[in-house]
Amino acid sequence: MIRAVITGTGSALPVRRVSNAELAQTVDTTDEWIVERTGIRFRHLAGAGETTSSLATEACRKALAAAGRDARDIDLIIVATATPDQTFPATATIVQAALGIDDCVAFDVAAVCSGFLYALQVADSMIRTGNARCALVIGAETFSRILDWDDRTTCVLFGDGAGAIVLEAEQDGDRGILYSRLHADGRHNQLLYVDGGPSTTGTVGKLRMKGREVFRHAVVNLAAVMEEVLASAGFTAADVDWVVPHQANARILDATARKLGLPGEKVIMTVDQHANTSAASVPLALDVAVRDGRVKRGDLVVLEAMGGGFTWGAALVRF
Ligand code: UT7
Repeated sequence: MIRAVITGTGSALPVRRVSNAELAQTVDTTDEWIVERTGIRFRHLAGAGETTSSLATEACRKALAAAGRDARDIDLIIVATATPDQTFPATATIVQAALGIDDCVAFDVAAVCSGFLYALQVADSMIRTGNARCALVIGAETFSRILDWDDRTTCVLFGDGAGAIVLEAEQDGDRGILYSRLHADGRHNQLLYVDGGPSTTGTVGKLRMKGREVFRHAVVNLAAVMEEVLASAGFTAADVDWVVPHQANARILDATARKLGLPGEKVIMTVDQHANTSAASVPLALDVAVRDGRVKRGDLVVLEAMGGGFTWGAALVRF
C-alpha cells in the first residue's frame, strides 16, 4: 500500500512585522479590541518585491532542505492560493521556474482558507494512484493586497505568508496521510468573498466578510469534520497528539477544541504572531510546531481549515 508521507516542512514571512498598535495609527481600532476578539497581536505584510510566489518559493526551499531533497526530485507542485501573482499562469508554474525545475505537473488550487487541505487531498490522491512520487504542496498568500484598509472589520484580521511541505510516496509504512475529508457549501458565498474578479468587474476586488456569521459556521463545521475524520480512521480525540488548525481567530480555536474535548495545549496556535494568512496558515503553523520540536515523527496530527465558499476540511496525518 502506498501512502503519502510529509518528509519536510518550510515557511516564509514578509520582512515587515506590524503590531496592533502600529495598525491603530492608521485604522480606527485598538490593540485591546483586536486581542480580545481575535487573539491577534502581529501580522507580516508584504512589501515591494514580496509576492505570493516569492514567499512560496522561499518556503519550498526550506521544506526541500528539511526533507533532504533536491528540486529535481519534485514531480508535482500544487499552490493553494486566493492571491495568485497573476490571474494566469498558475503561481505553481512561477514557483517551478524559480526552483529551476524543467518538467513537472504544476497547478493552483482555489479554496481560500481551506486551500491547503484541498491541495493536500489532491496531492495525496495523485501519489497513492502513482501519478506523482514527490510533491511540493504549498499554501501561500498576500492577502494584504486584497484588503480594504478603510474597513476595520476585516483589515486587522489578515496577514501574508507561505508554508510548504514535501509529500513523498512510501510503500507499506505506518506514516502518512491516513484520511482526509473535504466539504463545500456554495449557499454561503456571500458571507466571505472578494467583490471583483476577471470575469465580473475586470478588477481584483477587495475582501468582504460578515464575520459573526462566518464564526458561527466555522465552529460547527470544523468540529464536525474533525469528528468525521477521526471516526472514519478509527480514532478518537484522545488519540490525537496535535491539532494544527487554520489560524483565523483564537476564539474559534478554543471553541472547536472544547467541542471535541481536546485540551488547549494540544492545539498549535500562531494566530497571535501571523494573524489569518488564509491558505498559508495551516502549513505555516505546522512548520513552526515541527521546528520548535512539538510535532515529532510518529505523532498523530489533525490538520483542519474552513474558509470562503464555504469550504472546509480536515486531514489525519501520522507525522
Ligand atoms: O479565514 C476564514 C474564516 N474567517 C473567520 O473565521 C472569521 C470569523 N469571525 C471572527 O473572527 C469574528 O466574528 C470577528 C473577529 C471578525 C469579529 O468579532 P465579533 O466578536 O463577531 O465582533 P462583531 O463583528 O460583532 O463587532 C462587534 C463590535 C461592532 O461594534 P458595535 O456595532 O457593537 O458598536 C464593530 O463595529 O466591534 C466593532 N468593531 C471594531 N472595533 C474596533 C469591528 N471591528 C473593529 C475593529 N476595532 N477592528
